[in-house]
Amino acid sequence: MTLPYCEPFKIKMVESLRKSTHAEREEWIRQASYNLFNLRSEQVFIDLLTDSGTGAMSDKQWGAIMTGDESYAGASSYYNLKEAIRDITGFEYFLPTHQGRAAENVLFSVLVKEGDIIPGNSHFDTTKGHIEFRKATAVDCTVAVARDIKATDPFKGNVDLDLLGKVLDETPRQKLGCIVMTVTNNTSGGQPVSMANLRGVRSLADRYGVPVIIDSARFAENAYFIRMREEGYSHKSIREIAREMFSYADGMTMSSKKDAIVNIGGFIGFRDKELFRKASTFNIMFEGFVTYGGMAGRDMNALAIGLYEGTEFEYLESRISQVARLGEKMRAAGIPLQLPLGGHAIFIDAGTFLPHIPAEEFPAQRLAVEFYLEGGIRSAEIGTIMADRDPVTRENRYPDLELVRLAVPRRVYTDNHMDYVAAAVSNVFERRNEIRRGLAIRWEAPIMRHFTVELDLLS
Ligand code: F0G
Repeated sequence: MTLPYCEPFKIKMVESLRKSTHAEREEWIRQASYNLFNLRSEQVFIDLLTDSGTGAMSDKQWGAIMTGDESYAGASSYYNLKEAIRDITGFEYFLPTHQGRAAENVLFSVLVKEGDIIPGNSHFDTTKGHIEFRKATAVDCTVAVARDIKATDPFKGNVDLDLLGKVLDETPRQKLGCIVMTVTNNTSGGQPVSMANLRGVRSLADRYGVPVIIDSARFAENAYFIRMREEGYSHKSIREIAREMFSYADGMTMSSKKDAIVNIGGFIGFRDKELFRKASTFNIMFEGFVTYGGMAGRDMNALAIGLYEGTEFEYLESRISQVARLGEKMRAAGIPLQLPLGGHAIFIDAGTFLPHIPAEEFPAQRLAVEFYLEGGIRSAEIGTIMADRDPVTRENRYPDLELVRLAVPRRVYTDNHMDYVAAAVSNVFERRNEIRRGLAIRWEAPIMRHFTVELDLLS
């Protein structure tokens, strides 16, 4: 018998969870204005809102916390991190930031100006926010097959190279700030980008003289998928694959809260000293001096170790297999999911789950509310609410897909938790026809509204 996948760690410390009653949850979600971000964590039983900053650090990472160097300038923790980043990514220069969006803010202060066009595969919402905040435009060139929820293409995170070429061709060079490649492609369902696609982007970028930036939040999971799915990589290590991925970029932004398994932190990697120098000025203004940039020394130490732990094959195998286990259980119950199953999360197709609720009533948000009511499970809407309004017309943008994301924190939950979630979602699926109406917005912020939106339940 082939031995099954198994976590390459054991548990040294546990945190208690409390189950609540349906009546309690009904009251709490009403008080939260049907926005799951407004719930207190004690009101949640299994928290799949995000895999960002929610992972469990290892004993080695906690040990390194105690030896953090909190010097303002030139801390040993900074040099530990610099060495790890150079080793894992190949980038010679780096700036620490307090998280991923801060890295975007600093880097885009140099690369993006009003009127620019920033093409890429689907930009994450903070990335798009930082582009639109500068009155520039993010152009999504993701392959069309990504919108076909049932298609099982192995690399649905790719950009359509013809489309990207067309955008580059039609835009004056001075308006091309950079190309952003997000690995894995979170917005399109945690889908990976192939090495061939990154290579293709590099050659287009060279032709038009545009820098390529990799939004690297889940670069290790992307490398795992390349190893499992792309010809010629099955015998390469995750770190070799990651190094090759980064070799096609001029720089990277990183939310360390994902694949580097820390609770806070980010950074920017650069190949070019001049770009690094320009960005350093903004880092000092927005984040902190160049050798800490919004991070404590202890956190830089933990991050340096997390970059290695997050790029171990056995760890990634158990992580991605756990996510797949959750997806397979739901698939067996007939629940419409995005395929192939993603790296960090399962994406449920709310449009098919609740076909009778129109996009104007936010079916994905309605479904996320229902999963909470059923089992105390917190998930995230990736649909019309998150798609936000067009910055010019202020009309709602209706995305091709209404998705609910169940993101799995790293090294936190057991397979029993996954089975519980699958059972709760299946229960909601069985009674889906009883959910008649969606939600209406009572209040929203002018940008990135999904974090703070207030809603009413329609009846
Ligand atoms: N890029 C990607 C692809 C992300 O998924 C995120 C965050 C960021 C950038 C921003 O990083 O949160 O450290 O500032 N994604 C989280 C999520 C919030 O839930 O997917 P950050």
